[in-house]
Formats: sequence, C-alpha cells, structure tokens
Amino acid sequence: MNPLPIAEWLAAELGPVAPKAHRSKRSATPRYRLLYDALRRAILSGQLPAGERLPSTRELALDLKLSRNTVVTAFDQLIAEGYIVTLTGSGTFVTDRVQGQRPPIPKSALAGRRLTLSARGERLIASDPAITQEIQPFVPDLDDFSAFPVKIWQRLQNRHWREARSELFDYGAGGGYRPLREAIARYVSLARSVQVSPEQVLITAGTQHSILLCAGLLANAGDTAWVEDPGYWGARKALGATDVHLRPIAVDKEGLKPSLADLETRPRLIYVTPSHHYPTGAVMSLSRRQALLDFAGQHGAWVLEDDYDSEFRYSGRPISSLQGLDSHDCVIYLGTFSKTLFPGIKLAYMTVPPGIAEAFKSALYDLQRPGQMMTQATLADFIAQGHFATHMRKLRQIYGSRREILVKTLRPIIGSLATISREASGLHLLIELPESANDIALAALAATEGLVVRPLSTYYLGEHRRKGLLAGFAYVPTHEIARHARRLGEAIRRGMRSYG
Ligand SMILES: Cc1ncc(COP(=O)(O)O)c(C=O)c1O
Repeated sequence: MNPLPIAEWLAAELGPVAPKAHRSKRSATPRYRLLYDALRRAILSGQLPAGERLPSTRELALDLKLSRNTVVTAFDQLIAEGYIVTLTGSGTFVTDRVQGQRPPIPKSALAGRRLTLSARGERLIASDPAITQEIQPFVPDLDDFSAFPVKIWQRLQNRHWREARSELFDYGAGGGYRPLREAIARYVSLARSVQVSPEQVLITAGTQHSILLCAGLLANAGDTAWVEDPGYWGARKALGATDVHLRPIAVDKEGLKPSLADLETRPRLIYVTPSHHYPTGAVMSLSRRQALLDFAGQHGAWVLEDDYDSEFRYSGRPISSLQGLDSHDCVIYLGTFSKTLFPGIKLAYMTVPPGIAEAFKSALYDLQRPGQMMTQATLADFIAQGHFATHMRKLRQIYGSRREILVKTLRPIIGSLATISREASGLHLLIELPESANDIALAALAATEGLVVRPLSTYYLGEHRRKGLLAGFAYVPTHEIARHARRLGEAIRRGMRSYG
C-alpha cells in the first residue's frame, strides 16, 4: 500500500504538468493517458489494492492541476477496462477483477542476470494470466467436489496400498495403467460414440498436457493452429507455449465458422469444443462437423476435440463426439476427470488414431515419465465397479436443479435486459448482454457483492466481441442459489443503468 495520499503520490509520478505550448515529446502523450497509465500500473502492481477508494474526479483534478475532463477521461478508460468501478452514492473503487493477475516481475529480480525469458516465454507471460479459482458464488468451471464419494474412493485406494504391487510404484509406461485405459475406451465408446480400442488411449496430466503433446508431436514451428474465438484460455496458453501461430476463428450458433481467408491459412492443428462450445455453449451442427472433417482430411490438419464437460446434459439426448464421425483418422479426442471427479486429480485422457498411438506413448514416456499409478488403479476400479456412473447421475441431478433455480430466479429480475443461454448443459450459463453493454464493468460490479461472474468479452482474441456474463452454478449450494441469484440479478439490473 502506498504510504502517501493518492493525489500526492500521483503528482510525484506525473511530474510537473507543463503548459500545452511547452510540452516535450513525453508530455506530447495526452495527459489523460499519463494519468491512466500511472493508475493502471499502481493497480496491477497491487500498490492500489482491490477495494481502495479513489478520490473524486473533482478533487483529483484540483490536486493535480488538471482539467476535470482529463481526469474523467482517464477514469472512464479504467472503468471500461474493469480496473475500477463507480458505485452510485459511494464513490469509485479499485475492483478485484485484477486480483488473479500477475504483478509485473520486479526489475530487481532480474538485476545482475541476463534477461532469461525466451521470446516464447515473454509471449506467454504477456498474454492474459490464468484465472485463479476462487471459491465464491458463480465462479465458472468449478465443479462441486464436496459431492465426491470420498469413502468409496478411500476403500478402493486402500486395497491397492495393502497389496502394494510394485508396478504401481513405478513410472507408467505404455500410455498409462492398462485397466484404466480399457475402462476409458469402454466408457467413451458407449457414452460418446468414440471409435477406439484401449491401445489408442493415453492417460495424461490434464487437457493442457494433452494439447502440448499434440502440438509437440504434430506441428512444426511456424505452423498455424486454429482456436475458437471466443475460446478456452487453457488451450491458447498451451498452444502459445509452443511455436505455432494462433489464428482466432469465429464461432456462431452452429459452432466454428471459418471465413474464406481462414480456409486459406492451411492450419496444422484445429482446437474445437464441438459438443458444448466453451464458453458460449453452442453445439456444432452436423453440416459444420462434416465440413470441418472434410477440410482437415483434405489438408492434413489434426482436429483436437476437447470434450471437457459432455457428461453434464440436463435434458435431451447427449451429443455424439466428432471423433465418432471421423473417417480420415484426423481427430484426437480429449477428455478430462477435472470436471467429473475434482480438478486437483490432474488426470485426463486422449485417444489418438492407431497409426500414431505408439509414437505418442513413447513420447509421453520420454517427455514425462508419467506416474500416479496408485490413483490410476483406483480410478480404474471406480469406473469398472459402476461408481463413476453413479456419481455422474448424482452430479447431473444436483447441477440440473441448481441451473434451473438460477434461471428461474434470474429471468424475472433481468427481464429483457439480457438473454439467458438455452442449452441445459455444462457447469455455467451465459447471460448474454447487448453489444453496447460493458460486461467487464458489470462483472466488476458483481464482484463488489462477492459474486464472481466472468465477462464474455475477455474470452476473445479478435476485435469483434459479444458481451455477456458467465455464471457457474455447479458449486453454489442448492439451498443458497436463489438468494445469490437474486443478488446477481439486482446487480445486473443496477449495472445496466450505468454500463448498458
Ligand atoms: C474447455 C475446457 N477444457 C478442459 C478443461 C479442463 O482442463 P484440465 O483437464 O487441464 O483440468 C477445462 C477446465 O476448465 C475447460 O474449460
């Protein structure tokens, strides 16, 4: 925290403000911009922490000898980007949207050493940081791991510890524990129409790990990877850590929609979430699926199908996998246990076409020396003995009713101000706002109430951004969801008066 009052410290940061006629090159930068930069730096570095009240624009203009207009313009920009929020009657505050963001690496940490990050490392650090998981109402993507059947798991795991077979203490060769790969092959072929044998299944340490393996083995430096826009930050991060070039591709209600110019780029990798697009929930239509598979087959592209939450459909029939339609052997199917069991288990799986299965298994072993064999063995039993299916039924029932309560409570409060996504699936719903709305400011406003919703516009790489809020319903206890939903609805209604 800065020991000086904000205005005094800002005055020192900005230096004397020269009259317009005598301004040097530095001061040719508009004054609102200098003020905006100073405040933004202070917020990102934590000097101005979340919840800090800023002086009014009138006070600051007087103290800094700036025009009120200059200060208002700087504040407006910070509000638009979600760094601060104005609450009518209370003042202007630093939001906690930026809490999960990384403060700049202090120069002193690098002093005396050559700058060590590669160009790739710099890119990775410069892109939006991963969102830290806070356990607060409506955090998207969080599953209710309090429902996990700990006792059953313990019993299954204890047996393996008692038997203490030496193979479970070793690295996991051959793509992972064989009975687990068999159980997964059975499960995905029955539940998701994936065409697969256990030889094609590999156990990985998470979806990002699967993506990294694909990029490492299938793409050359400089190749293009298509990613959905909006899309999953985790996939972008993983691909961004390799030397492929990311190309954002638009998504509409029928899923991925490449333009003619996109089609010319001849991607090597195409990352998609066809069963339930992340984060809008769109389901890829059959005609788009076929067009994508034909394109990939013709041009030697690999499609990475991330089927991260297909277990959670609350009405209608499940949507089959893209891999099940693939006659070109160009789809790599990715699944995870982060959503179905708990995120910290860090076990996921991928299925690869038979022709590259051995190469993938050997690379997985050489690059990672995979482990967690006790956990893999326990999970194999958990699935084979029917506990996984029982747990999924229970979660579907819990999440389905939470989703319904959230929708029913929100709808009458927000009325025509926003549209709630129809897909009864996944772990979050999308509250779609008009294009003119400032979803970042609305999310910041909700955060001041302790409600963590994420602005849809921040999931884009490209310029054209739809607006909305992602509200996770899986983790909010059933008896509390209506109360929180009312607070969220009221916050949206209030916010739309200022930020609509
Ligand atoms: C689209 C998508 N894919 C995959 C995952 C899971 O990733 P992991 O298996 O690395 O935990 C998530 C988690 O939020 C996700 O949103």
